[in-house]
Amino acid sequence: MQNFISLAQIDEIADVVRRKISIQPMVGMILGSGLNGLADSIQNPIRIPYSDLPNFPTSTVHGHVGQFVIGELEGKPVIVMQGRIHYYEGYTMGQVTLPVRVMTRLGVKSLFVTNAAGGVNGDFVPGDVMLITDQLNLMGMSGLNPLMGPNLDEIGPRFPDMSQPYDKEYCDSARKVAKENGLTLREGVYAGLSGPSFESPADLRFLRLAGADAVGMSTVPEVIIARHGSMRVLGLSGISNKANLDGSTITTHEEVIEAGRVITPKIETIVRGVLRAM
Ligand code: HPA
Repeated sequence: MQNFISLAQIDEIADVVRRKISIQPMVGMILGSGLNGLADSIQNPIRIPYSDLPNFPTSTVHGHVGQFVIGELEGKPVIVMQGRIHYYEGYTMGQVTLPVRVMTRLGVKSLFVTNAAGGVNGDFVPGDVMLITDQLNLMGMSGLNPLMGPNLDEIGPRFPDMSQPYDKEYCDSARKVAKENGLTLREGVYAGLSGPSFESPADLRFLRLAGADAVGMSTVPEVIIARHGSMRVLGLSGISNKANLDGSTITTHEEVIEAGRVITPKIETIVRGVLRAM
């Protein structure tokens, strides 16, 4: 039997964070592979390494730093995860989503989540940014839902609604910001797999048939936990590579990180614009 994380454990971490900060963060942000730069432009930052927090998982992936940065962005109080935890690192789903639980208990009302993803939609090219309008919970379909185990009734219901994982108003706001800034914003469904192996050509053809536009190894569990706690979610995928439906090219972690350099300023513009409009 898996050990599930209790409310007391979540609150112990939230208390440590609360003691170190003097603002009430309103928006939580999770920055994906190669997209960490935004955390460096936060004003009046307080940095809390994950290793300073009791029983907190730390990221083991190259290119992922591991700390919370709390401060202001566009005048709004934010708590940013610089470096996220992935299921493929060997953590439980509870550990992967613990940072979002902590944000919920800190009173954070919105979650902005970014990731690097493979483009399954044939129209997408590396460097594109996709507004996530819905998600395919493939991990959950195979028994890896982060809400398994005792329900935390203080946070949300046993069977939470998932009809609107990504907030419609935030989506509209992101579209408006992209338009105002002359940015092409793709839209679509993000499919979450566990990784760490990239997909086979048959996996990718299956995902395309299932309605996926992008595929990655994160985000879906965090969004489920955010929605369980009634947070409103904005999701953006940076398309770092074209998914290889015919097996003619290979995908590497290096190209994912490299594409982040093109994608980061676009995501930053959208995130800043949506924040400003809040
Ligand atoms: N597949 C899965 N995850 C990813 C990819 C991909 O092609 N690119 C970046 N993250």
